[in-house]
Amino acid sequence: MKDFTMLFPGRVYFGNGCLDRLKDAPIRGRRGLIITGRHSAKKSGLLDRVKKILKATGREIFIYDDVEPEVSVETVDKAAELARRYRADFFIGLGGGSAIDCAKAVSGIYKDRLSVKDYLDTKTPVRRDSGFLIAIPTTAGTGSESTKNAVLTYTAKKIKISLRGDSLVPSMAIMDPELTYSMTKEITAYTGMDALTHAVESYFSSNANEITELLSLKAVTLILGSMSAAYKKPLDKAARYDMMLGSFTAGLSFANAGLGAVHGIGHPAGAVLKLPHGLVNAVLLPHVLEFNSAAIGAQLMQFRKATGFDLIKKIKSLNKSMGIPARLTASSKGGVKKIEEIMERVEYSASMSYNPVKMDDKRVRQILKGAL
Ligand SMILES: [Fe+2]
Repeated sequence: MKDFTMLFPGRVYFGNGCLDRLKDAPIRGRRGLIITGRHSAKKSGLLDRVKKILKATGREIFIYDDVEPEVSVETVDKAAELARRYRADFFIGLGGGSAIDCAKAVSGIYKDRLSVKDYLDTKTPVRRDSGFLIAIPTTAGTGSESTKNAVLTYTAKKIKISLRGDSLVPSMAIMDPELTYSMTKEITAYTGMDALTHAVESYFSSNANEITELLSLKAVTLILGSMSAAYKKPLDKAARYDMMLGSFTAGLSFANAGLGAVHGIGHPAGAVLKLPHGLVNAVLLPHVLEFNSAAIGAQLMQFRKATGFDLIKKIKSLNKSMGIPARLTASSKGGVKKIEEIMERVEYSASMSYNPVKMDDKRVRQILKGAL
């Protein structure tokens, strides 16, 4: 018997074409700031579509369209300044994880005249009355629409760091699988493997509960069953639907159960090696599972019974089929030089603390030696 507390996004719309539900969605606010990346939402016409739907409801809409991949603290500060200037009172994160995380951070800090760095430096949680926040993901992977943190790149410190607060869980999530059809093969692979990592790590997390276990199992089954088809055929409706459902289910789970050493090691490794989050996780996942296997043998068996998959073998073959390498660097010699740089940035407080095997410097070094 275990007590637990769970957080979920306030209202969720899920399904093909559900973006149109924005028309009559109960949005709290009159002046919205859409926060998005530099290219894809503009190129695909999605940004115009969202703007048009919201304007037709009589609201004023403003745009910040300069979010870079692995969004930085400087970008959050710029977008928050714009929010203050426009007197925005609700926020829409439109795009991949970086756009949504940027919108989450802005909604949490715009009411104060502080830099996001001030919150991060002092580990101050964001205020409870953050702005009404709508997450509209265009990738099936990050789970940002369900979580209470925004992952940011702290440029000067060369680290990935989370801004946290219960109020950062989006007020509304619009999960429309049709918005993921324009993802490139590479983005499909990286974001999909990030989602799979969320599902797997939350399943084995020492903080899992009976509900998150169910969500994680469902997510793994959905993602393993549709990843290859979504990668090979971008317009495969059923595969895109299942990938988005799997990614969302995994997000609901890890937002409450936490993650593990793949994310614990992956954030500093990605920041030092300058590699995308999903790629780093995809490579690290089998290494960490093998490392953990002595402690999770019974669960791996149970998992095999439930899904019919040998999880570690299946992940390795999926990676290979999508051109994801077995290691993070081209040569292990070059990689060894980076280990200490990564070790300086490893923290044991967040994701790492939920890994089923307790992690320490010696163990993290051992995993990095195998993966670099
Ligand atoms: Fe992730």
